Amino acid sequence: MLCSCSNIKSKDKIYIGFSQAMSNDDWRRSMNEAMKLQASLDHDVELIICDANNEVQKQISQIDQLIKDSVDIIIVSPILSKPITPIVQKAIDSKIPVLVVDRKTENETYTAYLGADNIEVGRIAANRIIASNSKDSINVVEITGLVGSSPAEERSLGFRKVIDGQPNIKIIETIGGNWESESIEENFKNLLNNSASVDYVFAHNDRMARGVWQVARSLGKENRIRIIGVDGLNTLNGGIQLVKDGVLEATILYPSGGEEAIKLAVEIVKNESFAKNNILTTTVIDKFNVNIMKDQYDKIYEQRAQIENQLEAIGQQQEKYYAQNNLLKVTMGLLAIIFSLALYSIYSIFTIRKKNRQLELTTNKVIVQRGQIEKIAQEVKESNEAKFNLYTGLSHEFKTPITLILSSIESILDTAKVKGIGIMSEVELIYNNSNRLLRLVNQLLDFRKLEDRKFTLRVSKTNLYTFSNTIFKDFEREAKKRNINFTIECNDEALDVYIDRNLMDKVYFNLLSNAFKFTPDNGSISISIINVFEKNIVKVYFSDTGIGIPKSEIENVFQPFFKGSNNRKNSSGMGLHLSKELVELHKGSVVVRSKQGAEFIITLFKGQGHFDENEVMLENDMVDPNQLDFGSDYFDHESYFMENEDSNSEKYSLLIIEDNSDLLLFLKNKLQIEYEIYISNGSDATEKAFEVIPDIIICDVNLPYQTGFEVCAILKRDWRTSHIPTIILTAMGGKESYLEGLQAGADLYLTKPFSYSVLMQSIQSLLFNREKLRYYYTNSINKLDAVSSFNNVEQEFLDRLNRLIKNNLDNSEFNVEQLAVDLAISRMQLYRKVKATLGINVSDYLNNFRLDKAKQLLEKTDLTVSEIAYKTGFSSPNYFSTVFKKKYGAPPNSIRI
Ligand code: FRU
Repeated sequence: MLCSCSNIKSKDKIYIGFSQAMSNDDWRRSMNEAMKLQASLDHDVELIICDANNEVQKQISQIDQLIKDSVDIIIVSPILSKPITPIVQKAIDSKIPVLVVDRKTENETYTAYLGADNIEVGRIAANRIIASNSKDSINVVEITGLVGSSPAEERSLGFRKVIDGQPNIKIIETIGGNWESESIEENFKNLLNNSASVDYVFAHNDRMARGVWQVARSLGKENRIRIIGVDGLNTLNGGIQLVKDGVLEATILYPSGGEEAIKLAVEIVKNESFAKNNILTTTVIDKFNVNIMKDQYDKIYEQRAQIENQLEAIGQQQEKYYAQNNLLKVTMGLLAIIFSLALYSIYSIFTIRKKNRQLELTTNKVIVQRGQIEKIAQEVKESNEAKFNLYTGLSHEFKTPITLILSSIESILDTAKVKGIGIMSEVELIYNNSNRLLRLVNQLLDFRKLEDRKFTLRVSKTNLYTFSNTIFKDFEREAKKRNINFTIECNDEALDVYIDRNLMDKVYFNLLSNAFKFTPDNGSISISIINVFEKNIVKVYFSDTGIGIPKSEIENVFQPFFKGSNNRKNSSGMGLHLSKELVELHKGSVVVRSKQGAEFIITLFKGQGHFDENEVMLENDMVDPNQLDFGSDYFDHESYFMENEDSNSEKYSLLIIEDNSDLLLFLKNKLQIEYEIYISNGSDATEKAFEVIPDIIICDVNLPYQTGFEVCAILKRDWRTSHIPTIILTAMGGKESYLEGLQAGADLYLTKPFSYSVLMQSIQSLLFNREKLRYYYTNSINKLDAVSSFNNVEQEFLDRLNRLIKNNLDNSEFNVEQLAVDLAISRMQLYRKVKATLGINVSDYLNNFRLDKAKQLLEKTDLTVSEIAYKTGFSSPNYFSTVFKKKYGAPPNSIRI
């Protein structure tokens, strides 16, 4: 607070501004400390100390500032009386009370004065000299304080008044000081050096008195001069210590009155009654009372220290209090918030409960409504499902009659071709339109499959150019007929891509049909395959010079059932939609451009990385049955004519298991020209097969009593029929049923509608394969043990057959009848099984076995012909010789030579 003479004030406090003359000596410092201590005891008091540093002008301006700050009271200890008087007057005029301490101003316009009586101080000093004197004549030197300050003048006045009445005491010299020892040392030294005898020195304060002693001592005269000082401070080098040390004769107590000044100032501010002049008690301290005084002062200082400690403790407590108070306030605040929140929570709970009840009611309503909606939705779903099923079922149903129509027309075409009759245009019309109808049915089914997400891709490595070229060729006839410039080009004929050939075939077919539909005669259509080498893609462009697509409609081209506004032709609007979906199934894309005509661009990825593992088929899988679908309006009729090269050969037997009597009849009529036909409507499928042991079986999947897969599985497990190639015929084209067919052991799997010619080809291929196998068997009769390439059932049968023959080789009684009994099958079944598997009569097989063995024995042993004949089961050596000669062209004896 020192030096800070301007402060922001608080209303409740008493602001005391103290203008201290200086603070560079212990007396002033003890005054300041006493004031501060007293002020700190009173919380309402705010003390501002301004140190003028012994500069009069500074003191004036500091007091002026205190006036401006409107402190409640100003305490002034004037450096000099005269110059400070006007500013004190100004304060009084400004209604600020002024308490003058220690030194006085010139007039008595101040509010109050507090300090010791300096005239009395001078008197006490003089009386002390008189009292201690024993000599007749005494020389005294007076050393005064600063001229112009009231204590210096009054002390001198009091002193002289007493001394002047004493004839034997003479003031030989007065030295004017300024309260500090340096101000008098030189003059006093000179005095001592000149004047012989100085008995007493009265210095106006202890600091100058000590200076006198130091000068006297420097001249070795300290014991001869008695010195009296003023102040009587209990500090190091203070008056009490100097008296105690014998430096001073005595010191006159001059209390600073700091404590009393604050008390009085508060009383003045509070308008309590007070005295204008407040005189502090003074006394002499000499060797007689110095110890008591010191003890007293020590105790006072001790108490002060204690008070200060307590104040500090109080301060700390106060800080704690404020902190705790703040904490308490915060806690209270928080508690208030918690309480409010608790109240709000309770309110919310009630509101929520109420809302919950409302919500429950609403929920229940919604549940009821949802139930109703679900029921309606279920009904709608079921009704839709029923409609879809009807529509899908009908579509399936359409397929068989269409197949029959197509096959019948093919048959007519066959006959016409054989008889060399030209094909009527009406027949061609029926044929083309049946195909169109079939395609439409297929598209409807595909559309449904797409909707149900039931399309499973079965991609396989395909040469794109060859694939495209095959389809290209299907359309070439039409192009020729209409003089359309139809071309195909490719920048990389070796390029292989992974596609589902069946699905991509539909895409190509749709895009080309579209192009042909809208391109007028003499126009151009082109397929252009571009391998984009720098990227992992290939693009196929289908361009035509047709009517194109209006710009505003180009966006909608791939929407289902879309029909362009410039399209006057019949269109289902499904083809392009299906094409797009099918290309996208391949993770590819198809876009359309229309400038002069239309251009569809298919983009496909190269490689197989973009497909799931289970979508990728191995090459040379079972014949892809879908490849055999009818695909095109522009079918090359000539390819339908099948030449039967071997019409005179023994007929193979064929069992057809089919519950559709029309189809059954149709197939029977068609096939009986070349095969011996047995039929079953499915009710006795397996019995019939066991009975007949046909060379080939064609079996429908949807049979009334058991599925075609089950029939197939039973027959393939039984060794009587396990060897018979089986063709499964179905309207179901899914991957699952294809797999089921494979598991059941089917040799071929044809989806309806199937081409008759394809069926014929398939039958012939299977029979051919069977012949190959048979040839292999026949040529390995004696090696059969080592042959393991047959399926398990076949292997087991042949093992058993051969074992029985081997075990009975020397038994002439063992014949075909016995063999059938041992194999637990009928003689006829054995006959047909062996004939079908090994291609020969079973009795010939038995004889061959015996003859081969006999030949071996003839070559490798010394047994006689007769012995060998009996050993290999011939009843007589003569019969053995006859049959041996028949088989090997020479009698048995010739082997021996
Ligand atoms: C302190 C002092 C004291 C003296 C007083 C007179 O500054 O010099 O030694 O008694 O002032 O005002």
